[in-house]
Amino acid sequence: MAEALAKPLSARTRYCGVLGHPIHHSASPAMQNAGLGALGLDWRYLAFDVPPAELGVALAGAKAMRFLGLNLTVPHKLLAFDLVDARDPSAETWGAVNTIRCEVQAADGAWRPLREFDVPPAGPIRAQGFNTDAEALAQALREDLGLPLAGQSVLLLGAGGAGRTAALKLASEGVARLWLLNRTTDKAAAVAREIEQRHPTVSVRLGRPEADVDLVLNATSLGLKPEDPLPLAPAVLDLRRATAVYDMIYRPAETPLLRAARAAGCRTANGLGMLLYQGAKALEIWSGQPAPVVAMRAALEANVYGAP
Ligand SMILES: NC(=O)c1ccc[n+]([C@@H]2O[C@H](COP(=O)([O-])OP(=O)(O)OC[C@H]3O[C@@H](n4cnc5c(N)ncnc54)[C@H](OP(=O)(O)O)[C@@H]3O)[C@@H](O)[C@H]2O)c1
Repeated sequence: MAEALAKPLSARTRYCGVLGHPIHHSASPAMQNAGLGALGLDWRYLAFDVPPAELGVALAGAKAMRFLGLNLTVPHKLLAFDLVDARDPSAETWGAVNTIRCEVQAADGAWRPLREFDVPPAGPIRAQGFNTDAEALAQALREDLGLPLAGQSVLLLGAGGAGRTAALKLASEGVARLWLLNRTTDKAAAVAREIEQRHPTVSVRLGRPEADVDLVLNATSLGLKPEDPLPLAPAVLDLRRATAVYDMIYRPAETPLLRAARAAGCRTANGLGMLLYQGAKALEIWSGQPAPVVAMRAALEANVYGAP
């Protein structure tokens, strides 16, 4: 569908993209190019495998080549926080950057998105960082699992970039109890301290839950590879004590954790909804237009589940 709607490439075509390492698994190009096609924009969205040590060079190159914007995926979201030239409040709030908009300083001194100019003025270019992951996760949990979040008990697995953002977002949504579990305990402890400071009404604990939970949320990368162990050992929590399980992973579409959760009678959802909503918001930031969510979801589902 994206190819059918896309304008032919020419010297006027503008570019966005995603930087990650690895990147070959990403469904973002399929989703974003469908969105660009549906909006009728002469833009393309490309994927680049950029090792962390070269992220700064890659960002400088994207600015020099007048990219309209970028997404950042594993392992760049925390690094990018320190590399961007300016940060939107969403990036400051969640402490990570997954979206960049390239902006040019116009003659009046104001920073304007590059999309506003067919031929950008000669002024300096800056990368402004945003975070669209946190809102996307909350929206996906509500829509896909019917969870209100406020007042809920949650076991969160993982304290990397996505885990930290998820923990802070869940706390800001007013979950009642949050258990944090991570291979590197110090990282979970640092997130717990941050929540205690910013959201003192949330009960936050490290380790296994001593009560039943409304939600188990996997924000580790365990499940991406077929040989991975479960991110949650049955000895830590029997899944029959959980109402719902969300796995941020969307490829494979059903991880061993989600399969076990379904067998235990839990409501389940994979990370497709989160990917969709973070991408839709990013496209709105770049284009200044409402995202064509229906076209983006259809392309994403075809990419992840196969053509219907
Ligand atoms: N659906 C979406 O839109 C979306 C958005 C963001 C992220 N994600 C997914 O969420 C996952 C995490 O992303 P991230 O950005 O947080 O990555 P990250 O910063 O690299 O964090 C990885 C997390 O997984 C844990 N982990 C990795 N290998 C492990 C192992 N062998 N045993 C136990 N724990 C292990 C890490 O524990 P340590 O701290 O001990 O290293 C850490 O908690 C990825 O699968 C990513 O694809 C999905």
